[in-house]
Amino acid sequence: MDSIFHLLYSSTANGFITDKMIQDILVVSRKNNESCGITGLLLCRTGHFVQLLEGDKTSVRRTFQKIESDRRHVETKILAEFDSESRIFPAWQMGFIEEKNQSALLSKTLNSILGSPILLADDMRSQVLQVLRSVTNTTDK
Ligand SMILES: Cc1cc2nc3c(=O)[nH]c(=O)nc-3n(C[C@H](O)[C@H](O)[C@H](O)COP(=O)(O)O)c2cc1C
Repeated sequence: MDSIFHLLYSSTANGFITDKMIQDILVVSRKNNESCGITGLLLCRTGHFVQLLEGDKTSVRRTFQKIESDRRHVETKILAEFDSESRIFPAWQMGFIEEKNQSALLSKTLNSILGSPILLADDMRSQVLQVLRSVTNTTDK
């Protein structure tokens, strides 16, 4: 089986993150991601986005290029890029967990990676992925 490429990034919202902004992003993301085989998770935290995209490398990079040039956010920073044998979110064209529904552990993890200007060190990346994996049964719509 082909390996799955994963890209984790953070960004800063251009102004307030409104429910409408999130709904607009999710509707388009889920439609596009389904057609190009991308799955993942979108999170908001204190005016920032953190998103994990997973799929084939070409599709993930192409989608990330579109996302990077989206004016709803700035300062996109890649935190991790890696291949693995499987997806973390195979059933989610784009999952979402609202800030108020994030566990204390998830909030703490997001706060710690939001300050990172560079790729996460391997041990930090593993910790973050473990926390993300643990939320697969708690998305909002
Ligand atoms: C934080 C954030 C996350 C996004 N995530 C995705 C995504 O996972 N997939 C996607 O196709 N577009 C995503 N978008 C939207 C893209 O930037 C872009 O508006 C969209 O892909 C354009 O789709 P279109 O080419 O069908 O018009 C995201 C935008 C933002 C601000």
